[in-house]
Amino acid sequence: MEEQDIALLCELFEGTPRQGPGSEATTRRALACLPQGFQPQSILDLGCGTGGSTLVLADQTTAHITALDMHQPFLDTLRQDAQAQGFEKQITMVCGDMAKLEDVGDSFDLLWAEGSAYSIGFEHALSLWRAKLRANGCLFVSELTWFSTEPAEEARAFFAKEYPEMKDEVALRECAESLGYRVVETFRLPAEDWQAYYAGLEPSLERCRERHGEHPVFTSTDQEREIYEEFGSDYGYLGLMLEWPSLRG
Ligand SMILES: C[S@@+](CC[C@H](N)C(=O)[O-])C[C@H]1O[C@@H](n2cnc3c(N)ncnc32)[C@H](O)[C@@H]1O
Repeated sequence: MEEQDIALLCELFEGTPRQGPGSEATTRRALACLPQGFQPQSILDLGCGTGGSTLVLADQTTAHITALDMHQPFLDTLRQDAQAQGFEKQITMVCGDMAKLEDVGDSFDLLWAEGSAYSIGFEHALSLWRAKLRANGCLFVSELTWFSTEPAEEARAFFAKEYPEMKDEVALRECAESLGYRVVETFRLPAEDWQAYYAGLEPSLERCRERHGEHPVFTSTDQEREIYEEFGSDYGYLGLMLEWPSLRG
C-alpha cells in the first residue's frame, strides 16, 4: 500500500469509535471466556486503535494494561478518553510494532488482539506472541473468518484480493493448536458489531471525501461494506480465547 493510502486510511479511522467490528458487549463476552478464576494482572492490547477494547478491559479487570499501536494519533485519542474515564494510571500507551515487541516486557497474563492480528498474518502473530505469554496465560484474538464452506463468488473474489490468507473456523482452530495453544472457547461476533462499525465509519467517510475528494481508499471502503451487506452471512469475525499451556508436547 502506498504511503498516501495508509495516511488516508488512518485519517478515516481516526474519526471512528472503533477501527474494526467489535463492541463493549463483545469485549465483555470474550472476557467471560477466560478459564474460571483467571484474574489477569497484566494485559497487552495489541493493535488497540483508539482503545475500544482497552477501556473495557480497564473497567472490567484490575490489570495493568499496555496498549500498543503503530499509529500515534489513535493512542492520543485513547489517552484523552482514559483520562476522562479515570483510567490513566491503569493504562500505558506504547507506539510500536506488534511484529517486533522489543520494549514491552514479557510474561503477560493476557494478550488481547481485536481485529488486529491479520495485519501481520494470523499464524505469524500467534507464533510470535507466544514468547510474550506466561505459562497458562491466555490470548484473545478476533479474526476475519469464512463461515460458509461455499461462499458467494463475489465475496471469494473480493477477499482473494484483500485477505488471501483468510481461513475458516476449523482451520483457525487447527492453526492455533498446531502452534501449541489450547482452544478454550470460540464464538462468532454478532451482526450488530458490523452494523455499528459501518455506521461509525459513515460520517468519517463523508468528512474525508469533503476534505480530499474521491479516492480509491474511500471507494474500496464502500465496496467492502456492499460486499458485507450482500454476502455478510458467508463470513464474519470469530473470537478465539486461547491458553498457552504450561506443559507443551
Ligand atoms: C482493525 S484495527 C483494530 C483496532 C482495535 N483493536 C479495535 O478493535 O477497534 C487494527 C489496528 O492495528 C494497528 N496495527 C496494524 N498493524 C500494526 C503493527 N504492525 N503494529 C502495531 N499496530 C498495528 C492499526 O493501527 C489499527 O489500530
